[in-house]
Amino acid sequence: MTSTPVIEATGLTKSFPGPGKDPIRVLHDIDFTVDTGSVSVIIGPSGSGKTTMLRSLNALDIPDAGVIRIGDVSVDFAELGRPKRGPGSGRTLTRADNALLARYRLQSGMVFQSHNLFPNRTALQNVTEGPVIVQKRDAEEARTDALALLDQVGLSKQADQLPHQLSGGQQQRVGIARALAMKPTVVLFDEPTSALDPELVGDVLGVIKDLATTGTTMVIVTHEIRFAAQVASQVLFIDGGAIVERGSPDQVIAAPTSDRTKTFLKRILDPA
Ligand SMILES: Nc1ncnc2c1ncn2[C@@H]1O[C@H](COP(=O)(O)OP(=O)(O)O)[C@@H](O)[C@H]1O
Ligand SMILES: [Mg+2]
Repeated sequence: MTSTPVIEATGLTKSFPGPGKDPIRVLHDIDFTVDTGSVSVIIGPSGSGKTTMLRSLNALDIPDAGVIRIGDVSVDFAELGRPKRGPGSGRTLTRADNALLARYRLQSGMVFQSHNLFPNRTALQNVTEGPVIVQKRDAEEARTDALALLDQVGLSKQADQLPHQLSGGQQQRVGIARALAMKPTVVLFDEPTSALDPELVGDVLGVIKDLATTGTTMVIVTHEIRFAAQVASQVLFIDGGAIVERGSPDQVIAAPTSDRTKTFLKRILDPA
């Protein structure tokens, strides 16, 4: 059985203004797909473009070119605001462009390296904020959903606590519940455990593993290679803003073919 991928990205290209006249190209014409209910893990060296790739998927960074479809919302970034000058500049977004972007952004929920929770709201309020304020959902219904999500991430007892009363791992799990509360088509994780003390990493990875078994579509940037090997449906190794190798964990992690992938994995798995 083949089904239509839930994410299809083609020709994804992104540059940032460089120190001189020339822009620096960070993503080079990237193509990839993500299947419904799958876990895609992106690995690669620092500065290879992983964060930019995720931010492009969420349109936090607007790609210079490329078409990305998530669910039933598709954006042709080269056409968006018809950029008149160099990359990243000179776009004039129309109301229709902004409406499309707003719909597009709701397709994905983002979990960052360090939770950016509202410091003076409780865990529960952090989770209900988006559904109530952005999505205008019924407050009581949003609260019921949020409590179920907090329970799912193992924090039913912490619903009324403020972020500073929670450990880093607990805060990160509130961040995951908050992303899920918007019912996005896909949840994007950018190194969700890299800011945590080592003993807190397992809880957060455990929550992500549980989500994988419930069929949540996820794209995860992580250096946790063993975790990737356990949960990933596909692994993408990116280097220099391009996908160097892509396949199952058995292929990319256990039997990489590219020397760049081999060197990277060796360094990650045996830093000394
Ligand atoms: N807003 C920005 N302005 C200029 N350069 C950027 C910006 N964001 C990222 N870059 C550059 O793009 C490259 C890729 O960055 P990033 O996507 O953060 O890589 P990774 O997440 O793989 O470490 C790096 O060289 C980085 O310096
Ligand atoms: Mg990054």
